[in-house]
Amino acid sequence: MMHTVCLLPGDGIGPEVTSAARRVIDESGANIEWVPLPLGATGVELGGSPLPQRTLAAVAGHGVALKGPVTTPIGKGYESVNVRLRKKLNLFAAVRPVRNLPGIESRFSDVELVIIRENTEGLYSGLENEVVPGVVQSLKIVSEAASLRIAHFAFEYAVNRGRKKVTCFHKANIMKKSDGLFLECARRVAQKYADRVQYDEMIIDNGCMQLVRDPSQFDVLLLENLYGDIVSDLAAGLVGGLGVVPGANIGEKCAVFEPVHGSAPTIARKGLANPLACIMSGVMMLNHLGETVAAQRIRDAYNKVLAERDLSVLTPDIGGTGTTQSFTDAIIAAMKKP
Ligand code: NAI
Repeated sequence: MMHTVCLLPGDGIGPEVTSAARRVIDESGANIEWVPLPLGATGVELGGSPLPQRTLAAVAGHGVALKGPVTTPIGKGYESVNVRLRKKLNLFAAVRPVRNLPGIESRFSDVELVIIRENTEGLYSGLENEVVPGVVQSLKIVSEAASLRIAHFAFEYAVNRGRKKVTCFHKANIMKKSDGLFLECARRVAQKYADRVQYDEMIIDNGCMQLVRDPSQFDVLLLENLYGDIVSDLAAGLVGGLGVVPGANIGEKCAVFEPVHGSAPTIARKGLANPLACIMSGVMMLNHLGETVAAQRIRDAYNKVLAERDLSVLTPDIGGTGTTQSFTDAIIAAMKKP
């Protein structure tokens, strides 16, 4: 079956890692028709907007996209394209599996967790204003509906994947109303799943300490928007860095797959970007599309390449001396070997 997928290369290393993922997916046996579309700086260059209307309409229409990272101006300029895309398409759940990979040394060898992040509200509401000169406020929006929705998603995810425990990170001791509501919703949903999934909660500062001390105690993590963003990068650091952690943004009608990492401007166009996080995001996409054989073929291939640990092939972030291209070529070659 042919699937139509929007390809959003984005900025910085985005074009390099998305084209690597496209090459690998094209060689995997999956039948994908790609629709390349501008986003971020390329959108500004071509259409005047970092989130062109035609890009938004195409992703909404086709329902699936593979996306590279987008640069967001710091402290000024346009609102984050990622935040707008997630809100406009109602991509309410970010799913980020974090696990050890063969051949990638890290402090721990038993990391097997999934971060479920609420993707549409919290402090990412973008509602900021200057109250009086020298004083600004930023509104943290938490709704019962969105909190229940993401909690349900996390527990359903746990049940469907045979996972045992959901842990909610919060700061409801300080933000009694906003995080309080998020936590209360998590507790309400947890009760409905009490016979199947264990529920636990932790104040986020302690949660971060526990994560870096013993990540094996966690299974599915449920977090609001900002905490999910920060903890995703922290968790990536447990397994080898941002080059090896994939992600998906899931909504009711649409799904956009993208690596957790950003546009890494300092290594852009140097051939140094690790394509694996984007390739792994592509694997998540293939599973979502029902292309499970192609997905497994890619997974087996990158695991084999990682396990062989030929440093001339791997990118520098995971200890190699190779390039985006050498790593991608090796994965494709491994797929072709019987
Ligand atoms: P970043 O993730 O781009 O880079 C952080 C560090 O990780 C850098 O040292 C970078 O070189 C390294 N890194 C990231 N991905 C890598 C890869 N695939 N291979 C090898 N090394 C890699 O985060 P940073 O520097 O905070 O943000 C840069 C820009 O990216 C900002 O404009 C930010 O807003 C944007 N960003 C976009 C995201 C998205 O579009 N989903 C997510 C995170 C950041």
